[in-house]
Amino acid sequence: MKEKIRKLIENLIKILQKKGKLPDFEIPEILVERPKEEIHGDYTTNVAMVIAKIIGKNPRKTADLLRDRIKTENTKRGKGENGRLFKKIEVAVPGFINFFLSQKILFAELATILKEKNRYGRNELGKGKTVIVDYSSANIAKPFGIGHLRSTIVGQAIYNLYKFLGYKTIGDNHLGDWGTQFGKLIYAIKKWGDEEEIAKEPIKNLVGLYVKFHQEAEKNPELEEEGRKWFKRLEEDDKEAKRLWKKCLKWSLKEFEKIYKILGIKIDLALGESFYEPMLKDIIKEALDKKIAIKSQGAVVIPYPDDSLPPFLIRKSDGATLYSTRDLAAIKYRRKKFKPYKIIYEVGVDQILHFKQLFWAAELFGWGKRDDYIHVVHGMTRLPTGRMRTRKGEMILLENVLKEAIKRARKIVEKKNPGLKQKEKEKIAEIVGIGAVKYNSLSRRPLTDIIFKWEDVLNLEGNSGPYLQYTYTRAKSIIGKSKIDTMKIKKGKSEFSFVPISGTAAGQPDSLTAVMAAGKEEKEIRLLKRLIKFPETIMESAKKYSPNLVCNYLFNLSQDFNAFYEAVPVLKEKRSDLKRRRLALVEATTQVIKNGLSLLGIEVLEKM
Ligand code: ARG
Repeated sequence: MKEKIRKLIENLIKILQKKGKLPDFEIPEILVERPKEEIHGDYTTNVAMVIAKIIGKNPRKTADLLRDRIKTENTKRGKGENGRLFKKIEVAVPGFINFFLSQKILFAELATILKEKNRYGRNELGKGKTVIVDYSSANIAKPFGIGHLRSTIVGQAIYNLYKFLGYKTIGDNHLGDWGTQFGKLIYAIKKWGDEEEIAKEPIKNLVGLYVKFHQEAEKNPELEEEGRKWFKRLEEDDKEAKRLWKKCLKWSLKEFEKIYKILGIKIDLALGESFYEPMLKDIIKEALDKKIAIKSQGAVVIPYPDDSLPPFLIRKSDGATLYSTRDLAAIKYRRKKFKPYKIIYEVGVDQILHFKQLFWAAELFGWGKRDDYIHVVHGMTRLPTGRMRTRKGEMILLENVLKEAIKRARKIVEKKNPGLKQKEKEKIAEIVGIGAVKYNSLSRRPLTDIIFKWEDVLNLEGNSGPYLQYTYTRAKSIIGKSKIDTMKIKKGKSEFSFVPISGTAAGQPDSLTAVMAAGKEEKEIRLLKRLIKFPETIMESAKKYSPNLVCNYLFNLSQDFNAFYEAVPVLKEKRSDLKRRRLALVEATTQVIKNGLSLLGIEVLEKM
């Protein structure tokens, strides 16, 4: 709707310019917003004020001029409210133009939802543009952490949003599978490990060996040198080093795959840091040749203009490359191979500095602008008892968290719906449990810290995954019971489109019924206005890299729906046109919840 109004204004400005009513100027960006208060309309724009400034005229008069033109255009569309896009167009000081939508346009949009179904909210905005999303990116031989879970869930939602908006999207799992730590690990495996034993519980054992290495190295610093040697061998493609490294990779990926499988997530690529190993020398050379980097005590660093950031270390004095070097190589490779419009990284708050340095360095290399790279920062996830510290060996195995969610959801299903078949209950528990964990990560702004509490995660009443799934199921069952098949609802579209809501109230014989009818209409209109806000919510949420906006929206939609359903008879309504219209609202609600949840990677259920 925002987009429709924006286009309309743009066209009218052009017409006014052609007619000489407005001077020639380049049309500025036209912002159409939702006003904070309903008395200011459904949408508002400040475009008249912007134009007035450009042409040096009075903002109020410019707004009047535009308003009159929009009014003429609006009236041309037909007599009476039903023929018009807007019920009312007002100018407010100092020069806002406020739009009040007509029922015609509201109902036309309702019909669009029912017609476009799973496609409702889609857009071609990103046509021809590629967006790379770098997410999940766990580390080999380390646990898949709760931060990686959040990155996986939020990253996937961002990926889905951009795809929905017509961008070509490429997901890349930038696995931590390279670096000096692998030299230490290989040394530790050879010295204290037993491959068969490790294979039984790989992550736990590998972490154990890594910790042991550090403990021993404290007593005997020579070990560090041993670790370095093994990493050197790995870099030089030594057979034994490569064999053990590959084993670590295989062990870890097997564990990670389990988690992706439970989450139902598949990432397009998993190139990993090791992929860039052959390109690292050239990166360092390029940085030195272009005079972006300098040598400093044997190391190579990228300093920033005016020292506004600490120097970016890209080669250590012992010659080893780093995480940073591989990230630079990844940018160069991705730019060449995919020509991305943007690269989005979903990574935790502890890497803010790294990405600032990286993006600026990329700009210094001449690889586009810093703003072409986005760090979507996620905050910490804490347990009510404090932070999870994997390094100290206090690992929470993520797989167990996910399984626990399913187990707890199973109990709820048992209570709510004991009559279901065993198999069905299990399936529902899985979808509800996993949906709940995902929603818990998604419903907060990525940057906020989350305190993980089961009561919140599985709350059936509050802003939670299960609550939305439950609303969906409930609405779906109304359609199921209606005996009017959905095809018929859609056929009846001309009917619900053109019966004016206020007309039905006026047609009531006595005023009390009229008031009550008006109250019901108010609920219907509120729901409808919420429904049509879906497409703009998707756009905003992608633009701000904030899937939480979709969550908020869906939660509000569910509340509007539940308020509507409590106050307005649907199945019991006797008048067939009203019944059809209300069923159409119910059907559209299920569709929009489904589309929204699907973008968040959450499934819906017909029964729950
Ligand atoms: N493996 C890293 C970590 O766990 C995250 C990698 C993020 N992606 C990137 N291109 N640096 O901290």
